Amino acid sequence: MTLVTEVRLRRVLDSRGNPTVEADVRTESGGFGRAAAPSGASTGEHEATSLPARESIAAARESAVPRLEGQVYAGDQRSVDSVLRGADGTDDFAEIGANSAVAISMAMATAAADVLGAPLYQHLGGAFRGETPIPLGNAIGGGEHAAEATFIQEFLAAPVGAPSVADAVFANAAVHREVKDTLMDRGIPAGKGDEGAWAPSIDDAEAFEIMAEATDRVANDVGFEIGFGLDVAAAELYEAGNDGDDGKNEGENDENDGNEGVYRYGDRERSPDEQLEYVADLVEEYDLVYVEDPFDENDFEGFAALTDRVGEDCLICGDDLFVTNTDRLGTGIERGAGNSILVKPNQIGTLTDAFDAVTLAVENGFSPVISHRSGETEDTTISHLAVATGAPFIKTGAVGGERTAKLNELIRIEETA
Ligand code: PGA
Ligand code: ZN
Repeated sequence: MTLVTEVRLRRVLDSRGNPTVEADVRTESGGFGRAAAPSGASTGEHEATSLPARESIAAARESAVPRLEGQVYAGDQRSVDSVLRGADGTDDFAEIGANSAVAISMAMATAAADVLGAPLYQHLGGAFRGETPIPLGNAIGGGEHAAEATFIQEFLAAPVGAPSVADAVFANAAVHREVKDTLMDRGIPAGKGDEGAWAPSIDDAEAFEIMAEATDRVANDVGFEIGFGLDVAAAELYEAGNDGDDGKNEGENDENDGNEGVYRYGDRERSPDEQLEYVADLVEEYDLVYVEDPFDENDFEGFAALTDRVGEDCLICGDDLFVTNTDRLGTGIERGAGNSILVKPNQIGTLTDAFDAVTLAVENGFSPVISHRSGETEDTTISHLAVATGAPFIKTGAVGGERTAKLNELIRIEETA
């Protein structure tokens, strides 16, 4: 193994035009690694802390970099990541920021792979890695990623029958194009949201109709099965109620006591029970293969009820619910809340933590889905992470340079693997 000689941090642009943290790592034997932190818009309240890039870099330079340069070996990922945690001193990277932490953590792995002369997925996953993942392609979206568009944040093409990653990547792009053509035929103008999905001003029902048509048409063309799925990002729709006694109208039938909150779709409200019926019906009607965050980020019960109902045929995935955190995933496993976890290294701050989340998930029959963020860079670490862990799916958009960087890397990996 080779000693880390230099860790450099700088601000670079992300896809939303915001500054983010990039890290360069150099080792004694001439190894070099570079990685950049992504950023979310519909972030979970339990995620590790992301600081403004300048602040995060200053703090990391002061307390983390001196403990890494000349002190750690790039290939010893667990030690590197525990030094990062020790330098920070908090549970959630509040001092140096999960953005600097994750950039350094990923750049270390990249440098270690460089020293070995091996691709990153091989360094991370070893010789016995699993299948290459199927990419989920965001084709229509709204929520926090685009104004005046759908309430459901993402409608994702899922080319589950694709014989190869390359076939899946091109199928998702074809669905994305087909959606555009359908919107044009219907005279509906559409720009794109943060992840490159079309963001038309249509209601969710019409988006379902268009997705079903587009995936069917492309499936007919390519000759393999293409389903679709959702990221509801329901925490963004949820309005908490007062969950206790409001002190007024005392009596058994005080309807303002114990109000459990609602999911707001514009003028339409759904109670948690109605949300369960709504999503379960959608899964059945459209044969959805994937539903992410169908309930609020603290509603383990809601996830469990939906998993009971439709979890046999559909992945019920926790993103804001689990935030790549093994403690929260442990609770989910105990309660049967979901059968899948979204894995975003920057939600937790290090590659070690992300790997531990994947391991715990797999040991308990939960499918890991590796994911980008809405704010991204050209960094391709998640493509390698998905291959290294044998994750069945990766969520990384369908078009747009910061998305195709990852998709094209998957195509290259598939060719060499
Ligand atoms: P975010 O959205 O990166 O804005 O959090 C992606 C997601 O919710 O999956
Ligand atoms: Zn999500």
